[in-house]
Amino acid sequence: MAAPTILVLQGPNLNLLGVREPEVYGSTTLTQLQQRLDLLAAELGVRLRHVQSNHEGELVDAIQIAAADGCLGAVVNAGAYTHTSVALRDALIGTALPFVEVHLSNVFARESFRHVSMMSDVALGVVTGLGAAGYEAGIRALVETRVG
Ligand code: DQA
Repeated sequence: MAAPTILVLQGPNLNLLGVREPEVYGSTTLTQLQQRLDLLAAELGVRLRHVQSNHEGELVDAIQIAAADGCLGAVVNAGAYTHTSVALRDALIGTALPFVEVHLSNVFARESFRHVSMMSDVALGVVTGLGAAGYEAGIRALVETRVG
């Protein structure tokens, strides 16, 4: 039987990790982050489907496709769309895909517009400010909740 799959969804500008505001987001690139998460996934016996897009509709599509494919859940860093996107909220609710919301930075220590999330109240949980460890916590939580 194929290993259960978790979608790791990265929103706009996260392709620039390592270059973009390293004092806020760190010096790890997106590829390095994905490799680190893949190592954890292998330990836990799950597979990761990595998707990054700067386009809201592509993020919506990735959520719908993950649910249709039977992914066990998603770790979602929707970047700035976290704070604005009713479409992503609707996709997450509409597919009932269990998900953990993750932010590399502590959004509550930043501008007030980042304190608002369109998805926190429908997430299994939210991890903010722990960098890559936040994604790892999200993956572990999904595995524990969904696989047992
Ligand atoms: C972010 C926080 C958002 O406010 C911001 O727009 C991002 C990244 C984070 O990971 O800290 O793009 O989601």
